[in-house]
Amino acid sequence: MPAALRAVQADLTTLAVDAIVNAANSSLLGGGGVDGAIHRAAGPQLLDACRLLGGCQTGDAKLTPGYRLPAHFVIHTVGPVWHGGDHGEPELLTSCYRRSIEVAAENGIQTLAFPGISTGVYGYPKAPAARIAVATVRATVPAFPLIREVIFCCHSAADLALYQALLAGADS
Ligand code: AR6
Repeated sequence: MPAALRAVQADLTTLAVDAIVNAANSSLLGGGGVDGAIHRAAGPQLLDACRLLGGCQTGDAKLTPGYRLPAHFVIHTVGPVWHGGDHGEPELLTSCYRRSIEVAAENGIQTLAFPGISTGVYGYPKAPAARIAVATVRATVPAFPLIREVIFCCHSAADLALYQALLAGADS
């Protein structure tokens, strides 16, 4: 069975999946946006676990437990800051989705949920970011048959409509 890809409008911190993906910064020591919400919901043990990871490069991903979250794990990835699009942003954002899926598969994760990495504080325009998210997940998950479901967790109705249009298309 190929993995199911779907979009929902929700608070990522409420999703009872094996892993949620955090749009973190390279320090992995917390911040605003979805990162702040995840740390608040998971509790202080998450920061203790993140301190042991020694940061994370842009485009890479690292795993911690989810502590008080309904999700068992958090995969922390660091998206690129948008500088106009010709500073490697598409390749780095692609790498975030690919590495998050690889880290998920290495840890036996079957269901995971992504926020729109880089599309908040980091300023990546939503439409091209969503195209990369859907295309990269479609291209990456077939190599990892353990992964059953990937959710694109949208904060707004406009984001949900964007993802639903992409998921309804044969390719993106
Ligand atoms: N659930 C789902 N999506 C959310 C939630 C939520 N609770 N909160 C925000 N979003 P951002 P970035 C969406 O800024 O752009 C932090 O300070 C939001 O609408 O969280 O990768 C980090 O520490 C947007 O579409 O992440 C870094 O310093 C998306 O999540 C920096 O921000 C990502 O927005 C990372 O910036």
